[in-house]
Amino acid sequence: MRHALIDSKLFVEHRARLKGLLAPKSIAVLNANDVLPTNADGSLTLHPNSDLFYLSGIEQEESILWIAPDAFDPRHREILFLREPSEHLKIWEGHKLSKAEAQKISGIEQVKWLSEFPGLFRQIMCEMEHVHLNSNEHKRATVDVQTRDDRFVLECLKKFPLHTYHRLARLMHPLRVVKSVGEIRLLQEAVDITAEGFGRLLHFVKPGVHEYEVEAELIHEFVRRRAKFAYNPIIASGANACTLHYNQNDQPCRKGELLLLDIAACYANYNADLTRTIPVSGRFTRRQRQVYNAVLRVMRASIAGATVGKLHRDWQKESQAMMNEELLELGLLKKSDIKKQTEAEPACRKYFMHGLGHPLGLDVHDVGYTDQPFAPGWVLTVEPGIYIPEEGFAVRLENDIVVTADGPVDLMARTPVEVSEIEDLMARRPRHKRR
Ligand code: GLY
Ligand code: MN
Ligand code: MN
Repeated sequence: MRHALIDSKLFVEHRARLKGLLAPKSIAVLNANDVLPTNADGSLTLHPNSDLFYLSGIEQEESILWIAPDAFDPRHREILFLREPSEHLKIWEGHKLSKAEAQKISGIEQVKWLSEFPGLFRQIMCEMEHVHLNSNEHKRATVDVQTRDDRFVLECLKKFPLHTYHRLARLMHPLRVVKSVGEIRLLQEAVDITAEGFGRLLHFVKPGVHEYEVEAELIHEFVRRRAKFAYNPIIASGANACTLHYNQNDQPCRKGELLLLDIAACYANYNADLTRTIPVSGRFTRRQRQVYNAVLRVMRASIAGATVGKLHRDWQKESQAMMNEELLELGLLKKSDIKKQTEAEPACRKYFMHGLGHPLGLDVHDVGYTDQPFAPGWVLTVEPGIYIPEEGFAVRLENDIVVTADGPVDLMARTPVEVSEIEDLMARRPRHKRR
């Protein structure tokens, strides 16, 4: 693994939280993700299964975890099944986890090879009543491809049709949305690496630099810090920033334009999510600064408004009301636009058409029931923006925060965001020949 070893207490704590939610005679089974094929004999690199990682720290393909807290045999209460290492695998794919290594990572005593799974699973199923199986229940997911978990569900139902089956996601979402202290530490690490990458860009961006060169600077910074991109980076100069999911990143950055950077690192599978908008030439124009400061005020007020007990829906409504006022001030909306607005279509949607923020964690758009009130330990992004295609630019800012009983904590408080900070740091760029 590339990241530093995580203390297995984190995963022990997560399993204890899940065990606390299981009814008597329950078993939960989780599978690794598939290594997805590309073309010919190619494949993508494994993207670890977030739930399996959350409960075990295991990132190896084909792994299976079961948790059966009241199994009669104490050795059957939690078992991790792994691919058995061999000389052949070592030559072709490299190192696979030994039992001792997997025990150290996960804190699970019982580690077995996959060949033992069918026999032991039959035994435990004869004892258990309730079976909790996993599936992707993210509301915005497009699920066209069958996962290992999906195939396992079908096999289980076929072999053991008389058990009572449950959706493990119903338990995992409320668990994962509340971050443990160890998780917040890892998220802060991802945020700090992201800040290093952003700092590097403030010294690098100038007229003539291409968006892909900016991407290359970041990947260098992230990989040398044992991280990777949390998502496809959006590096959007000028009007490109008005395309919300722009990631061609193939255009030159021109003098006088703004550059929108939605870029972040993933460290130890924990994701940051940062957006900053900077002036390519190092100084904002008057208009750019006006719009920038409007977005910054909404971001700051929305961070302060992310308090325990609030509903996401109400939090977003508050930000939309603030945005309406800012857009009036900027001359982008008229009072009559606001009078005409409806609950479903607030006036600001013309210029701020996406959500204010989302849970963040092992997934960038993390799991969690956002119809529930904010609770301590929720990590959220706060990402207002103003997109003005008719003026050829957009500004979005995005910070990551933790909701606590004492008010929100901004994990990105040290990442430059004020106009003056950005301009001062950019003024210190090395004086290379202009391109
Ligand atoms: N970078 C993805 C998002 O901001 O939601
Ligand atoms: Mn983002
Ligand atoms: Mn985001």
